[in-house]
Formats: sequence, C-alpha cells, structure tokens
Amino acid sequence: MVEKTADARLEEFEARIDRGEKIEPGDWMPDAYRQNLIRMISQHAHSEIVGQLPEGKWIPYAPGFRRKLTLIAKVQDEAGHGQLLYRAAEMLGKSREEMISELLAGKAKYANVFNYPTPHWADVGVIGWLVDTAAVINQTMLAQSSYGPYGRAMKRICYEESFHIKQGYDAVVAMARGTADQRAAVQAAVDRWWYPTLMMSGPPDTISTHSQLALRWRIKTKSNEQVRQEFVDLIVPQIRALGLTVPDPACAFDPASGRHRYTQPDWEELKRVINGDGPCNKERLDARRKAHEDGRWVREALQAAS
Ligand code: COA
Repeated sequence: MVEKTADARLEEFEARIDRGEKIEPGDWMPDAYRQNLIRMISQHAHSEIVGQLPEGKWIPYAPGFRRKLTLIAKVQDEAGHGQLLYRAAEMLGKSREEMISELLAGKAKYANVFNYPTPHWADVGVIGWLVDTAAVINQTMLAQSSYGPYGRAMKRICYEESFHIKQGYDAVVAMARGTADQRAAVQAAVDRWWYPTLMMSGPPDTISTHSQLALRWRIKTKSNEQVRQEFVDLIVPQIRALGLTVPDPACAFDPASGRHRYTQPDWEELKRVINGDGPCNKERLDARRKAHEDGRWVREALQAAS
C-alpha cells in the first residue's frame, strides 16, 4: 500500500470539513487541529468546574426552597458538563489527571467571568440571565463544530444551559418587579456583569490568536465578534424591557445595520484576569485545590476497587 503524503492527508481532511463531515477521535487529523481542540475543550471543562463556585456559595442563602432546589440543580449540571468535556478532551490524547493538575497549578485558563465576585443574590440571577445567554449563543455555534464529540456534548449542554437562563431570568424578573432596593440591587449586578460578559466571547478578531485556524477547520463556526454581537442584539432589548439600563451610554440600535452599537470592553482587563490577576482568581483556585484534596479518599477508594 502506498503511504499518503502529509499534503494529501491534509487535503483530504480539509475536503471532509468542507463537505460538513464530522471528524471522530480515531480519524486522521492535523496535530494543530488536535492541539487546538485539547486547548479549547479543556479550558471549557475547567470553566464548567470553576463556574460552580461563584453561584454555589449562594446555595445556603437562596431565598426560599424552590430557588434553592433550582440553584442546586444548576450547579450540579455544571459539574456534569465539566466531566463530559474532560471526556471529550481525553479522547484526543490528554489525560484528565494532566488537565486537572494544570488547573490546580494555576497554569490553565478558564472563562474570565468566574474570577469576579458575587456579593449579592442578584448576581446569581444576573449570571444565569446574562452569562448563560452569552454561553448558549457561543455553544449553539460550537454544537456545529467539525469535531463530533465536542458538537454532540454541546447539544446536551445547551439544552441544560437554556434551563439555567430561565432560572436566572426568573430570579431577575422577581427582583425587577420588587421593591426599590431589589431593583437597585439587580441594576448594580447588571452593571457589574455587563463588561465581563462581553469579554466572555473572546477578544476581537484582530487580537484573537486562534480564530483564523479554528474557523478554517470549523472548530468554531462564527468569530468571537459575531458571537458577541448576537449576544448584544438579543440581550439589550431584554434589559430595557425590564426597566433596567445597559451600563453603556453609547449602546444604541443602528437601523442601518440592524445591529446594536456598543462600547468594546477593556481587553487589557481580560488579559489580566485570564492570566491569574482577576479579583477572585486566588479564591477560586484555593477552593478547587481544597475540593480536590477533600475528594482524594474517594478517588483512592475507587482506584483500589477497580
Ligand atoms: N476567558 C478565558 N480565556 C479567554 C477568553 C475568556 N473569555 N477569551 C479568550 N481567552 C483566551 C483563549 O483561551 C486564548 O488563550 P490561550 O492561547 O492561552 O489558549 C487567548 O485568550 C486568545 O483568545 P482566542 O485566540 O480568541 O481563543 P479562542 O479562539 O479559543 O476563543 C473562546 C476564545 C472563549 C471564544 C473559545 O475558546 C470558546 O468558544 N471556548 C469554548 C466555550 C467556553 O469555554 N465557554 C466557557 C463558559 S462556560
């Protein structure tokens, strides 16, 4: 049998992507495709795991039984998403242990938003509403990813994340229709989360380092900027409908483009936060390290039994 040249294999791979075929773990893929997926999926998995913390701390204080139950269910869902994503990344050849030890050593990135504080119950509602809406827009796009296991994981995750949006929105509506103090609290939370949520879709295409290749190989099917614009166009009318204000005086609908104009976030702040210097990075990693240590006996018991 004649060995195919590297060029021929790449050409065949790209033709499969162009035909809309899914790439599966056992298929040939360029190393850069594999490494990009491992990077992105492991960061995504870490985000789900660390993402349990800012809202999880509110479980004991959730106002009422129904909200407590929904919040517990949401936080449990995030843990499940993390496991699903670690599995998808493992199939590409990097062990779960290695990914987790990089997270605990502070060497891995995870979503910027989870490094901000949640000082009020209103933050829980606003995270579910704003952050999860941005996440679902991004992940609906990723459900079309050329890498089969990632796209399939996204479909299940988006289904659950859509419920999380409802959980957050329901809490926000109750506060927006409540007392003056509750309305002020929810507005303050929108003010806190607006720019971090805009940053969540990633830096603009001119700064993004991975987008070009990710778009060419359909790991992502939309650019960071497109995803952010979709978020703004969807959420701004919702914010205003609740009698709340978008904390950006320049944010306005532009009839010519059919889009909202908005002020770009501070991209230097994103760089600082994702590189370890955000308001809560240390607190989040300390909590993860403690949880990892506390769970050691379970891992050891399972290993001994297998
Ligand atoms: N939070 C944390 N890191 C971010 C980020 C964010 N909001 N936006 C960008 N970055 C990081 C990237 O991971 C990359 O870091 P690296 O080179 O050390 O790996 C760097 O900033 C440059 O960004 P970019 O070239 O645009 O990366 P990208 O093509 O991977 O796009 C995302 C960034 C977040 C849009 C993309 O990774 C993605 O869609 N991830 C999956 C979704 C996800 O993780 N959601 C988490 C919320 S639950």
